Amino acid sequence: MNEQTLIIIKPDAVQRRLMGRIIRRFEDKGLTIAALKLIQITRELAEKHYGVHEGKPFYAGLVDYITSGPVVVMVVAGPRAISVCRKLMGATFGFDAEPGSIRGDFGASKTYNLVHGSDGPETAAFEIDLYFAPDEIHDTPRTDDSWIARDNEP
Ligand code: RTP
Ligand code: MG
Repeated sequence: MNEQTLIIIKPDAVQRRLMGRIIRRFEDKGLTIAALKLIQITRELAEKHYGVHEGKPFYAGLVDYITSGPVVVMVVAGPRAISVCRKLMGATFGFDAEPGSIRGDFGASKTYNLVHGSDGPETAAFEIDLYFAPDEIHDTPRTDDSWIARDNEP
């Protein structure tokens, strides 16, 4: 069950020079980086991405945060990529996130939690379309795929 998910390395992680180490977590797991770029998110784009949170107390701060500096946006692909990436990221708030996860290892903040990952297949499709044109995504087979994600279960 190959999936694609939208991952963002948020402004705090870029400022803290954690891009390489965070990308490495996804590659180490055997996931494929199918698309990647460094951009600054506009307020208009942030409001589309986080529209689901509009009206919540943290919404204004969240839009300020995600637009505050450059971010890395990526399409990460692989079997069960959406849930595997959420596990690699850890619980939403750094102080809750398990050691060994990205959020658990690199911070303890509530809002400044280093990474974003889509939370389901529909959200992933919506978010990937916000940031990437189809011809920017290179989800082609990698030579080691069959070893990394070998799964004989029905
Ligand atoms: P994300 O969307 O960024 O992957 O994170 P998530 O699913 O784990 O969490 P979500 O509920 O979607 O919240 C989106 C982002 O808003 C910030 N937040 N701050 N101060 C607060 O109470 C609060 N709650 C959420 C976080 O940056 C969170 O990732
Ligand atoms: Mg979310």
